[in-house]
Amino acid sequence: MLAKVLCRSFTAHKPPVRIAVTGGSGQISYSLLFRLASGALLGPHQPIILQIHDLPMMQQALRGVVMELHDCAFPLLHDVIATDVQSTVFTDVDYAFLVGSKPRGPGMERGDLLKQNGEIFVKVGEDLNKYAKKTCRVITVGNPANTNCLIAQSHAPDIPKQNFSAMTRLDHNRALSQLALKAEVPVTSVSHVCIWGNHSSTMFPDASHVKVSGNAGHAKFTQEFIENEFIPTVQQRGAAIIAARKLSSAASAANAAIDHMRDWTFGTHGGWVSMAVPSELYHGAYGVPDGLIFSYPLTIDGSGHYHLVRDLPTNSFVTEKLRLTIDELQKEKQEVQHLLKK
Ligand code: LMR
Repeated sequence: MLAKVLCRSFTAHKPPVRIAVTGGSGQISYSLLFRLASGALLGPHQPIILQIHDLPMMQQALRGVVMELHDCAFPLLHDVIATDVQSTVFTDVDYAFLVGSKPRGPGMERGDLLKQNGEIFVKVGEDLNKYAKKTCRVITVGNPANTNCLIAQSHAPDIPKQNFSAMTRLDHNRALSQLALKAEVPVTSVSHVCIWGNHSSTMFPDASHVKVSGNAGHAKFTQEFIENEFIPTVQQRGAAIIAARKLSSAASAANAAIDHMRDWTFGTHGGWVSMAVPSELYHGAYGVPDGLIFSYPLTIDGSGHYHLVRDLPTNSFVTEKLRLTIDELQKEKQEVQHLLKK
């Protein structure tokens, strides 16, 4: 109790940061909201206001989530606003976690959700544009995340393009942990790994530049392991979780969303992370055409600006993998052309 009182008085003078979360009564949010309220994103001295959205028919479940948030008596949680009105949820927000969307079921690809979920993101983009702070950072988690992000971003012309991103951090974290398990080292020993392209089974988890404890490569990372185990495991991990849980990943997705936003805010100190961001920021680098939301290896500086890791050597294997994921993103874009603002 004393700790809570002390923490409250220490944070009282800081203005709260507003964080929007859509899909607030869903599985991912059930982990995400509590971690946000506990300070996992912005640290133990930054009060926050949670602005949570869900559809009218989900309001009862959302009320239960809000009750539980109150019952935690989080010292940093200044206020909770739960609503089915999207304009309210995005008003003055500093961060937007776009989680709300229909999740895929067994046997589906994420792209199969394009028709059902794409339209949601038109209104999301329009409302972000009208109501959010122009400095708002946006992460798209709902699938197909890259193309949903593209739709939202096209409807938010007043927010800088570079503030829109889609989540490939879950794949990045999966890649790190698969390599750590193989090399039998702590996950913190593995670095210089990245995810290219789409958050789908065409993504390219790239271990060509991997370092273990600062040294290039590892004896156990044979070409056979990389091609036949590592890449397919990471590419298919979401489907494997759905097969095992009969539900899509939730806690690990929430964790990755927080990792993504935290690093985007505080920087990576030279470390590589993967984020899907507008390709026109990098004008054809690595052969990626403009107009896609594409995952790259990035570093993030202490002011929260991300930078492409440039001039990585490529070969025909890498080029072919990049081509596959570029082609798929272009195809998805074609399918939603009618939802993109001209
Ligand atoms: C994941 O990667 O686990 C999520 O995107 C859910 C899914 O559909 O795979």
